[in-house]
Amino acid sequence: MSPDRDRYMLFRRVKPLDAILATAEKRSLHRTLGAFQLTMLGIGAVIGTGIFVLTSEAAQKAGPGMLLSFCVAGFVCAVAALCYSELASMVPVSGSAYTYTYAVMGELLAWMVGWGLILEYAVGASAVAVGWSNHAVGLLRGLGIGFPSLISNADALMAKVQLSFGAAATPDLLKAIQVGGWINVPAIIVSILVTWLLIIGTTESARVNAVLVAIKIAALSAFIALTIPVLKAENFEPFMPTGGAGVFGAAASIFFAYVGFDAVSTAAEETKDPQRNVPIGLIGALLICTLFYLLVAIGAIGAIGGQPELSGGVPLAPGSAEIAGRCAAIVSAGAVEPLVCSREALVHVLDAIGWPSVGRLVGLAAVLALPSVVLMMMFGQTRVFFTMARDGLLPERLASVHPRYRTPHVVTMVTGVGATVAAAFLPVGKLADYSNSGTLFAFFMVAISVMVLRWVDPSRQRPFRTPALWVIAPLAIIGCVVLYLSLPLTSILVLPIWGALGLLIYFGYGYRHSHIAHGVVEAVGPGAPPMNEMV
Ligand code: ALA
Repeated sequence: MSPDRDRYMLFRRVKPLDAILATAEKRSLHRTLGAFQLTMLGIGAVIGTGIFVLTSEAAQKAGPGMLLSFCVAGFVCAVAALCYSELASMVPVSGSAYTYTYAVMGELLAWMVGWGLILEYAVGASAVAVGWSNHAVGLLRGLGIGFPSLISNADALMAKVQLSFGAAATPDLLKAIQVGGWINVPAIIVSILVTWLLIIGTTESARVNAVLVAIKIAALSAFIALTIPVLKAENFEPFMPTGGAGVFGAAASIFFAYVGFDAVSTAAEETKDPQRNVPIGLIGALLICTLFYLLVAIGAIGAIGGQPELSGGVPLAPGSAEIAGRCAAIVSAGAVEPLVCSREALVHVLDAIGWPSVGRLVGLAAVLALPSVVLMMMFGQTRVFFTMARDGLLPERLASVHPRYRTPHVVTMVTGVGATVAAAFLPVGKLADYSNSGTLFAFFMVAISVMVLRWVDPSRQRPFRTPALWVIAPLAIIGCVVLYLSLPLTSILVLPIWGALGLLIYFGYGYRHSHIAHGVVEAVGPGAPPMNEMV
């Protein structure tokens, strides 16, 4: 076979849609979910570390302009969600974006999407674990139990690494080494705990999800009710201290606060009247979250202000050792900690405006609710990994199912170890940005896939059709590219480096072992339960 022909064949390695649909049909879950449950499901998966923690990082990038950042990120998610819905309603099986791409664009691109989803889910889980750690440490402190800084973050380690790579020994970096930590033990604990729960097959019931959603909504509502009455107009001046670039930079990071809504798409198979209910659930969850996020952001900035900390006129990078050192210096000089310094933004604002007891309750809400977001993300990751291994693109041993627990314990353990190590040594903002680069890639590919499928297979039945697809999908594509390019340079580079590693593994292993290449087309085998059985 000539190299050209071989290359062509690679893109022809598609997983036949009919095979996927036939196996999905076989499983035929009961259609029980309505628009309300789907919306709850979406809110449960979405509200997490993004709003509870990254609000301060967004302020560091954009100042009060972060209000616009929340709108930009919400808009990109909404158009991506509409594209997701069409494929999710047609191909309602686990593996989401990976499976859609396999069916439409072929194996190589599907592999790349699956590989990108590892960034979204596994690294995203680590980010949420670090957000949880911040709140757990704060809550203990509120109860008079000090948790040593030495083992509750990795700021000192990061500063050392930066110095060893030739960074200038600024007072901010030296302060970070003096007061920062080396490893994040609470984040390790929560990651291990969630991994263990997934191995023994814990599933989150709709009832537990409803309680957690209520807790999160109550916490955000209390925050809004206490901060909006005390907001000061002058705290919004200057509105965009870092200009449009700052607004888009913050949007690219705060995008993380919206990630997770794809859980609604994966429940399409269990939804009554998916044509109506899936989009209502997706868009409803996004609209409600956007409204809450905007009100929270207005309350936070309005109550205590949120101008960025600068060095030589340039904002310090959020999550960097420099800003950790700067913030430590501000606090040790006896000043009130600015919003941009806080590791638990909402709790901090409530403390600063004289409501420490409510602040503690908001912290408690985060401590109770965030582990379920970690669980959701790790679960998504294990299912993508599992599907890829079952397709022969990763060693089959990874797809083995535990004889007693009936869970894919090997991939779960691999995922757990990866997520735990990342959570132990990296700050939440960086993890969220890395996760976003993978998510944006997956959304980008989904938007392309939905257009390709409309083009090549227009007559196939679509339980949900994206409205104005030829406008919405290009908007999603442009939005993903703009947000991706607005990420910090290191996060932009993570995707191609991760992608190159992925290609090496694909051509070293998956290309030869792929089941499709050997004529095996069964799309969904027995084994791990799909995402929608969990929620
Ligand atoms: N959107 C989720 C969060 O903010 C991932 O934690």
